[in-house]
Amino acid sequence: MSLLSTSLLGTQFTNPLLNASGVWCRDKVELDALNASQAGSFVTKSCTLEPRTGNPEPRYFSTPMGSINSMGLPNEGYQYYLDYASQHDYSHKPLFLSLAGLSVADNLKMIEAISKANLPAVVELNLSCPNVPGKPQIAYDFDAMQTMLEAVTQQYDKPFGVKMPPYFDFAHFDAAAKILNSFPQVAFLTCINSIGNALVIDTESESVVIKPKNGFGGIGGDYVLPTALANVNAFYQRCPDKRIIGCGGVKTGEQVFQHILAGATLVQVGTELHEEGPGVFARLLTEVTALLERKGYKSIEEARGKLRTL
Ligand code: DHB
Repeated sequence: MSLLSTSLLGTQFTNPLLNASGVWCRDKVELDALNASQAGSFVTKSCTLEPRTGNPEPRYFSTPMGSINSMGLPNEGYQYYLDYASQHDYSHKPLFLSLAGLSVADNLKMIEAISKANLPAVVELNLSCPNVPGKPQIAYDFDAMQTMLEAVTQQYDKPFGVKMPPYFDFAHFDAAAKILNSFPQVAFLTCINSIGNALVIDTESESVVIKPKNGFGGIGGDYVLPTALANVNAFYQRCPDKRIIGCGGVKTGEQVFQHILAGATLVQVGTELHEEGPGVFARLLTEVTALLERKGYKSIEEARGKLRTL
């Protein structure tokens, strides 16, 4: 076993890195670039039943500390990603399919088609899209989350994961974990989606920087690293039978290592992938390898969840 290899759901990964859904994964050209990159796996753009063009532009903006976006689920429709997944060579690298149906019924239709296709692709069910006007995030409504998971687990018989939003209170960590733990089929949690409905202001123009929702959007990058690490660690502690995929604020190998210490098995890269392109994965692997070697680790799994407290 090499220094960086790991496993999830019985599948081997040559390294823990992949994209955050939404970044560099909307069409075949982008997905093929991830497949050709040094990422250990990759995930498709969250999809809906029908294709969507998404919100008006500008809808993504970079700042020195990260990014804000309100894309509005632009995607090619689930059939496109299912076709991509059916042509993918899984012996080369694992692939995740991200689903973000606009209703329970939409998710059930997509899940039914995925079931029938019987592919090795792993579902990441998005419970935390903050950017569709008029549609609140499912995972901020615990009854809706329970209903969605009951429906999906009845329809689907394979293990899958859920993409979670950040929580900011121990009562919410506890309540979310209790629901998730009542569904053993939920095998992993991806923590976190962007911190939703933030506002970036440009001083000179005295204006918002993105057009949808009067400038409100989800933030990523440096802004979110401590929140992401807290959520990874909070759910790592509360959900001992599940795996955690860390997402949020990864810009260097050091931050990959911090996510793993907090409890992550895999680590996703969003804002920095958008900034740097798929070459980011090779750099992060070099950096995290140097860090693990300096610290004397023989495998990345030795570090997982080994965060110390004072
Ligand atoms: C979008 C943003 C998200 O954070 C998400 O989870 C799904 C979709 C979007 O705006 O496209």
